[in-house]
Amino acid sequence: MVKLEVEVGGLRLRNPVMLASGIIGVTGRLMVRAAEAGAGAVVTKSVGPERRMGYGNPTIVEVSPGSYLNCMGLPNPGIDEFVEEIKIAKTGGVPVIVSVFGRSPEEFAMVAEKAENAGAEAVELNVSCPHTEVGILERSQRIVGQVVKAVKKKVGVPVFVKLSSNVTNIVEVGKVVEDAGADAVTAINTVRAMAIDVETCRPILSNKFGGLSGVAIKPIAVRCVYELYEALKIPVIGVGGIFSWEDAVEHILAGASAIQVATALTKGFNVFKELVDGIKSYLEKKGFKDVGEVVGAAHK
Ligand SMILES: Cc1cc2nc3c(=O)[nH]c(=O)nc-3n(C[C@H](O)[C@H](O)[C@H](O)COP(=O)(O)O)c2cc1C
Repeated sequence: MVKLEVEVGGLRLRNPVMLASGIIGVTGRLMVRAAEAGAGAVVTKSVGPERRMGYGNPTIVEVSPGSYLNCMGLPNPGIDEFVEEIKIAKTGGVPVIVSVFGRSPEEFAMVAEKAENAGAEAVELNVSCPHTEVGILERSQRIVGQVVKAVKKKVGVPVFVKLSSNVTNIVEVGKVVEDAGADAVTAINTVRAMAIDVETCRPILSNKFGGLSGVAIKPIAVRCVYELYEALKIPVIGVGGIFSWEDAVEHILAGASAIQVATALTKGFNVFKELVDGIKSYLEKKGFKDVGEVVGAAHK
């Protein structure tokens, strides 16, 4: 029997395949469906201190097969209203990780505390949205460290920090958040990008700039996971371009203790079972007993 259970920054998961923030974690019921479909944990859509509308359409466009550019603008109902969805999500029976954001360390801490009180088993700090004014990381690495410290002071559950490749050196940022007390890092958020319509001669997205996700970003994500694994002591969660078990295994070999899927959900909820079964068959075929044995194996 192959062991698929993993422990990430103090959180135990029945398997390493998680729902990433943003795609379907907008309601509790959809997160329960992800759990029923086989996810090892679910991450909610990012939630802030108050209701936020997001940008007007068009906010998403497929730029090449399996690769999307989006500028949703972090629409969410605000943490007070979202508490009910967290409670429903928890009935799915897998850990619920609440993705939080704010404009300041204090706002992050306030939202994270409310998420913990609602039953979140961990929080993931979205400091890396590439297309909103609340993209903390784009302002300063120092503030990111302050955000982590402020949240760690207020909550007892594990704190994950979602990083971005939109920086000169992701390892530097990883070290800042590790030193500030983060329990794990998640890499990567979408990659800042844009597309222009040649007929109208205008940018396609209402916000001009957006974040690229899916097939096109997998090599960037794998590179980031590899670099972070080599430099940090805390675990790395890999996300970016994972559609097949081979993509998942690639992230794990680069150093991911667990992986997340967002864009591949466009193909349906089956992706969770396909990934879990595929990782399991791979481990059996290679003679491994525990998924932990292959985490970071590409470094040896
Ligand atoms: C439509 C859409 C909305 C997203 N919203 C969020 C979000 O609210 N918070 C967050 O941390 N990441 C968000 N993401 C980023 C994903 O969680 C993930 O990091 C990124 O899409 C790369 O993974 P993928 O290639 O599997 O899509 C969003 C991605 C997409 C495509």
